[in-house]
Amino acid sequence: MISLSITIANVTFPSCIYNASGALCTSLEELIAIGNSKSGAILSKSCTLEPREGNPSPRYHSLPYGSINSMGIPNLGYKKYAEFAKSLKRFGKPYIVSVSGMTFDDNVTIVRELSSVTEIDLLELNLSCPNLIGKPQVGYDFEQSKILFEKVFSVCKKPLGVKLPPYFDFIHFEQMANVLNQFPLEFVTCINSLGNGLAIDVETETVMIKPKGGFGGIGGKYAKPTALANVRKFYELLNRNISIIGVGGIETGSDVFEYLLCGASAVQIGTILVEEGVKCFERIEKELQELMEKKGYSSVDEVKGKLKTL
Ligand code: DHB
Repeated sequence: MISLSITIANVTFPSCIYNASGALCTSLEELIAIGNSKSGAILSKSCTLEPREGNPSPRYHSLPYGSINSMGIPNLGYKKYAEFAKSLKRFGKPYIVSVSGMTFDDNVTIVRELSSVTEIDLLELNLSCPNLIGKPQVGYDFEQSKILFEKVFSVCKKPLGVKLPPYFDFIHFEQMANVLNQFPLEFVTCINSLGNGLAIDVETETVMIKPKGGFGGIGGKYAKPTALANVRKFYELLNRNISIIGVGGIETGSDVFEYLLCGASAVQIGTILVEEGVKCFERIEKELQELMEKKGYSSVDEVKGKLKTL
């Protein structure tokens, strides 16, 4: 049997395929369902200092080739995700908490507090929420990102990675990679949704979601070529000890294979998890194993980064 297991920061993932933050991972029930599935890890919804209701509904809509959302970080507050850690340990897979504080100081506080919770394995600091009214994404401000990392790494005792927004310009990739390479980061997750897209219902001549006049983050197939490019570019530019986790439009085992070729060590499933439910993990894993078997590969490491150019 082909092994899809991987190790990041000395933490073993039984499978390299797990949920993206935001997809069915806010309540304890949802996190338990991910624990009971074939997902290779349990990653929480991005948390803030205090619980949040999020934006008014409708705030998620599926689209012909993906999804649009402007959730506004509905979550239970970081203390709950700390509390859940003990009961999620029984699933024998990593528990990762996504952190998306509303301010610089909130991020520092949440990382400091969560990093002392034994049963949390890793932290994913989200620099890329596109749905907060009046807030720029930290990930698009390279100086601010560096200042935040300096502070966060001074208080963090756990393996930490970052979730990035998509970049589209080679100079921006280089500027961000230059910042990331200065810190003891364990992983980089590429990419968050394509920020502030717009989807329209022609019949009613109306936007699809209520917040922000209809603007929202675009996920699914629309995001895949951009996400693959971000994984590939950061694989070229980052120190080899920083693992890359790919996310964007993965629906099949073949999609996962593409991300591995680009240099991803693991992948996350967002839109299709919301659409299909947790049974998607078993299907995608099986599809990947069959493809690898057919091609004669027996581990993720054998495929990782092997993309050929012309
Ligand atoms: C939300 C959306 C994101 O893309 C993200 O990274 C964090 C939060 C949201 O709207 O809830």
